Amino acid sequence: MSQAEICEIYVCNNIDCKNRGADRVIEALRDEFHSSESPAIRIHTYMCFSACNSGPNVVIPNRRCWLTAVSPEDVSVVRDVVSGANPPQHLQQKNDPQLEALIFGIMDAGLLCPSEDA
Ligand code: FES
Repeated sequence: MSQAEICEIYVCNNIDCKNRGADRVIEALRDEFHSSESPAIRIHTYMCFSACNSGPNVVIPNRRCWLTAVSPEDVSVVRDVVSGANPPQHLQQKNDPQLEALIFGIMDAGLLCPSEDA
């Protein structure tokens, strides 16, 4: 990632993802990126990716990456993906290709409405 590049990380915090631990994921990401020298990383909550049975869901648009069933222990994976690594298969095995196309289509169209900075 170049110095000038901003990397946005979106975490769904709607009810199903929350029930699967999204708040702990958000907290772990906040701890990882806000406590380090990562000014170019922005973490946002998101209202719902319509993948409610696959959460907690994390989307990193500029890496074209959607991660499912993310746990707080996966923060190092998120860091690796942000740095350009390929995501591990076990965090993408629940991805539905059509829904993935829709998620990134919405983001590409500029219709992304993050709830807030996490
Ligand atoms: S509740 Fe998280 S994707 Fe819908």
